[in-house]
Formats: sequence, C-alpha cells, structure tokens
Amino acid sequence: MSRLPPLANTHIDDSGMIHGDDFNDTYFSRENGLDESRLVFLQGCGLPQAWAGRSHFVIGELGFGTGLNVLATWDLWKKTRQDGAILHIITVEGFLLEAKQAKHAHENWPELKALSDQLIAQWPTRAYGAQRIWFPDDGLCITFLIGPCEDALSRMDFAADCWFLDGFAPSRNPQMWEEGVFAQIARLSAPGARLGTYSVAGVVKAGLRNVGFTLNRLPGFGSKRQRLEAHLGEEPNAIQKRPKTAIVIGGGIGGSSVAAALMRRGIAVDLFDDDYCARTKASGNPVALIMPRLDRADTREARFFRAAYLMALANYQQMGTAFDPSGIREVSLDAESAERLNNLASDPPLPPSHLAQPDVTSLMHLQGGLVFPDLVLKHLKTGATIHPVAIVAVEQHEGLWHACGPNGDVVAKADICVIANGPGAVAFSDVGDYMRGRAGQLSWSQVDRDLPTAPLSGGAYCAPFHDKLIFGATFEPIDLDGPTPQVTRTANVKNRDMLAGIAPELARTIDLDRASGRAAIRATTPDQLPIVGALTADGAGKFILCGLGSRGFTTAFLNAEIIASQACGEPCPVEAQVALALAPDRFAKRAAKRGKAKPN
Ligand SMILES: Cc1cc2nc3c(=O)[nH]c(=O)nc-3n(C[C@H](O)[C@H](O)[C@H](O)COP(=O)(O)OP(=O)(O)OC[C@H]3O[C@@H](n4cnc5c(N)ncnc54)[C@H](O)[C@@H]3O)c2cc1C
Ligand SMILES: C[S@@+](CC[C@H](N)C(=O)[O-])C[C@H]1O[C@@H](n2cnc3c(N)ncnc32)[C@H](O)[C@@H]1O
Repeated sequence: MSRLPPLANTHIDDSGMIHGDDFNDTYFSRENGLDESRLVFLQGCGLPQAWAGRSHFVIGELGFGTGLNVLATWDLWKKTRQDGAILHIITVEGFLLEAKQAKHAHENWPELKALSDQLIAQWPTRAYGAQRIWFPDDGLCITFLIGPCEDALSRMDFAADCWFLDGFAPSRNPQMWEEGVFAQIARLSAPGARLGTYSVAGVVKAGLRNVGFTLNRLPGFGSKRQRLEAHLGEEPNAIQKRPKTAIVIGGGIGGSSVAAALMRRGIAVDLFDDDYCARTKASGNPVALIMPRLDRADTREARFFRAAYLMALANYQQMGTAFDPSGIREVSLDAESAERLNNLASDPPLPPSHLAQPDVTSLMHLQGGLVFPDLVLKHLKTGATIHPVAIVAVEQHEGLWHACGPNGDVVAKADICVIANGPGAVAFSDVGDYMRGRAGQLSWSQVDRDLPTAPLSGGAYCAPFHDKLIFGATFEPIDLDGPTPQVTRTANVKNRDMLAGIAPELARTIDLDRASGRAAIRATTPDQLPIVGALTADGAGKFILCGLGSRGFTTAFLNAEIIASQACGEPCPVEAQVALALAPDRFAKRAAKRGKAKPN
C-alpha cells in the first residue's frame, strides 16, 4: 500500500454536479444538496433540538466528500449554539477531494460562502490518520479521519451523539456499508445515539438493526422515496461535567499550548511560571524549527509525529509573524540517511504540497519553517492569568486542586491541574523519574557568505536569524533538576563542527570569537515520545504534559489537545494506540512487565 492515501477521481458535469467516478455516483442530490443535507442528516438526527442544553455534542460522519454536510451543520450550529458549547464533527474520508474541487461544489450555495472560505482555508491534508482543526469563534472542532472507513473508525475511541451515513449508494460503494462498519458505529456511539441516512437499502437496514439500532422510515428528499432515521437504545445521557477552572504549571510551549487548548473551551486558566522572562527555559530559545519526523514504517509513533506536525502547522499559520514558513531542507549526512530520504521521497507520506526532492541528497519540507518562541508563547497565553510564581506542591482537597507557592500558601484553586513545567515535572509526579535531562546549546554568529534562504536540517541544523546564522544544537546528559547549563566555547566548537556536516562552506566562515549562544535543558524520554495525559493514580483531574525532548514546538499543540479533550470528556484527537503510546503510565507498565522496579 502506498504511504499516501488515494485522491478522489471526479468530474463535474454540464449542470455543475460533482461525480465520484470510481463509484459512478454523485456527491449529493441533483435536486439540491444543501436541502437534502438539512432534511436527511440535520432533521434526521433531531438537530438542533438534540444538542440543546449540551456543553459539547459529537457528530460522526461517514463520507466527508465536499464538506457540504459539515457546512450545513456549522451553519445551523452558529444559529443555535448555546454560549460556550462545543461541537465536534468527526468525519471519515478515504478519497480526499482537492480543496479547489470542494470550493467549486460549494459555489452552488452562496449563503454558505463565509463558512466555505474558512473550511477551504484549513482543508485537510492528504495523509493517513486523524487530523484536527478548530474554528474557535464558533466552538467548532473538526477531526478528519483519513483512510478506509472501517480501518479509520477501528483506530479511534469516542462516543458520537449522532451519525451521518453518507457513503455513495450501497450498491456502488459497499465498503461504506459493511457489517464491520456498522459494528464500529455501534461501538463508537453514545447511549441514545441518533443516525440519519438517505439510503433505505436492505443491507443498511439489516446492518443497523443487527448492531442494535431501531429504525424509522420517512419520506425521502426529492426523487428519493424514503430515508432512514435510527436511534440506539433509549435516552441520551444528558449529564456532562466539564471543568471551569484550571491551574497550569509551566509557561513554556507545553504549558502555554495547554492553556490555549483549555481557554478555547471556555476554561479559566491560572498559569504559573517561575521563569517569566524566559532566561532559562528551553522554550525561550530565539527560534525553533518546525518540521516533521517522517518514518518509513506505519507505526503509532509515525502517525503521532505526522499528526502533530499537521496540527502545529494549522496553529502556526494563524499566528502571523510568529511563524516564518520558509520551508526546511532536510539533508543527508551519509549513505544511510540518503537512503532514508530517497525512500520517503519515492513513496511520500505527505502530498507534493508538503514534500519535494530538490536532489538525491535532500528532502524539502515545503510548509515547515521557523517559529519565534517569544511571539508564539505570548499568543498562546493571551487570556490566561499569569503568575510569575514557583509552585512547590499541588494537592487535592474536596474536589479542588490547590497550588502552593514558595511559602506553602495556597495561591490558586481549580477543578483541574496540569503539570507542564518541562524538566521541573520531576517534582510533581513519579512519571518524571523516567525522564532524562539533555543540555542543548544553540550558537549564532555572523558569516561571510550569503545566508541560506531556508533552514537546513540533518542531525544538526542551521537557519538565518536576522543578519546572523543560528546553528546547533548540542545534546549532552545533564541532571534534570540541576542548574541551567552555561554557554561554553566548547559547545560552540561542537556546533560549528556539526554544521560542517550539513553546510561546510558556512561552517568555514564562522569566527568562534564572535559567536554567541544560549543553553537550556530538554526533558527527554527513553522512547523519544512525550508524556501526555491523565495522572489517574494521583486523583481525578491531574494531568501531565512533559518530556517534549527536541521537538516540543512541533508536538505541543496535539499534546495539549489530548489533555484538554481528556479533561472535558471530549473525543481524543489521536488514535487510541497513539494515546496509549504517550500515556504517563506506559513506563511503569513496561517496567512491571519486565519485573523491574522504576529507576531511582
Ligand atoms: C538547544 C535547543 C534547541 C531546540 N530546538 C528545537 C527546535 O528547533 N524545534 C523544536 O520543536 N524544539 C526544539 N527544542 C526543544 C524545545 O525547546 C523543548 O521541547 C520545549 O521548549 C520544552 O517545552 P516545555 O514547556 O516542556 O519546557 P520548558 O521550556 O523548559 O518550560 C518549562 C517552564 O516551567 C517553568 N517551571 C518549572 N518548574 C516550575 C514550578 N515549580 N513552578 C512554576 N514554573 C515552573 C520553567 O521555569 C519553565 O519556564 C530545542 C531545545 C533546545 C534546548
Ligand atoms: C456521497 S459522498 C459524501 C458527500 C459528503 N458528505 C458531502 O457533504 O459532500 C461519499 C464519500 O464517501 C467516500 N468514501 C467512499 N468509500 C470510502 C471508504 N471505503 N472509506 C472512506 N471513505 C469512502 C467518498 O470518497 C466520498 O467522499
């Protein structure tokens, strides 16, 4: 199987109708796709009444297609949304359309133009796995599951309040209406889940009945005689408990992304950071590279890093001058890394808009680039109450988390607490025992040659930084709770020598007497994955986001979204296996399996 999902094969006929050529069917009713969508799916699922009074509501859709159902739902949501409520749409698509094809289809409905423009601007990427985008002003979150329907659903864990079944006709598109798909729908349904579909084919009725749905046939749209409404079980569970307040410890990219993800959900955040001026934190570096870690194998790690990169891009692209999307050139250092890059280029996991191969020794990440951490952190923390205070303890009393300052005084109380303080996490959770410190120094200097137009990466990296070249970075063992490492000439020499591996002509012009630098500690983990999720052993409502290693600016947004989703009981943005790979208890479980105690 190719690493890249297939594209849709389509044509548009003389009447402007879009056809799926591999299925010999149209994407929506010839009569009026929008009216069909409103009747079959919105009315069919009892909307908007079904989401009234709910703090969040989850819709599952099979067949994203042009996104017309999504636009119709969004339009209704905007008109009827209760203050602060969140709508999740989780939509499966195996054959993504190009944004311009969808845009063309949407033009039939000028009344949806404003929403269409926003959706098209954040159109999903042709890459396997889960991808999440947000429209925070409307409390709308869309998670795309790109891949074959049954496989894509089987990887996820969520509870949908209703379903839109919108594959092509069952006779032409049987994979969307198979027993296995119906079994996944039932597994992923909340009690009382409702369902709408235009099809009353026998296979659909039998498939839904077999997994427990009660069916109701109603007059169909346009020339269709009938449509189906269905529900699973009795009444939906109306009780939804969401946190209103949060304590976040740490104001680096980890804590700031969590703060943003929580605030997007209307949660008031008290953020504590004892390095408010960014003198020592790793997140205080002058620049950070944003590029994907691409693996050859389709592992959960590969799926995590790809999804994290796409989510980071979606976030940075909204941050104006905090992001310079210059592209990044990944270069090979030896035959083995050249082979890896060539392999990825010949069967890429991301589409041509993301990856290009300028020559056999490099790969261009066209959408990657540089971020400016001070601007990024400022952007993310806007709206939080910031306290330049060191927290020494967090304790739970009568359902609330108390954060204690240096004198032992309680400085904040909140429903949940998130430990996101980088190397400092060792003080707040046993999980920290599995982290290791790595000192990193970045160097910068004037060079007597033209600066590269885009950053280079390959073991080491370099990037233009004002009129200088920034290059690095060292990676030396250090105590996590030790003092901040000093900038040294030895580390500058190391960085220059590493630079010689990727850009020898630039390295030759570095004058070490004029080089400056910045050193900080990275918190790393044995499996190079961050530690993300609920610390259930410590009591409900305590979460951790740490161990961001060398890629914190690329993975933080997805990690933060996992935590915010868990805290609010909302659908997780990643596949279940990915969430497990990041779970805080993974090291203890592995150690227990091997019969080993945790490290000292
Ligand atoms: C040299 C170098 C180069 C790097 N380059 C890149 C790159 O190009 N791209 C990339 O994606 N990543 C890069 N990284 C990694 C990235 O910087 C880290 O992954 C990321 O900054 C970690 O963020 P964090 O929020 O977890 O921790 P930190 O940035 O360490 O922030 C933690 C914050 O918590 C505060 N804190 C700690 N304890 C307490 C407490 N008890 N109370 C209150 N506050 C507390 C700290 O003072 C600090 O402000 C690099 C790292 C280094 C060192
Ligand atoms: C009728 S169209 C959906 C129309 C869409 N809801 C809209 O608003 O435009 C059916 C969709 O199902 C997708 N599809 C077909 N077979 C699939 C499969 N096996 N897995 C995932 N998606 C599939 C098609 O690519 C197509 O986009």
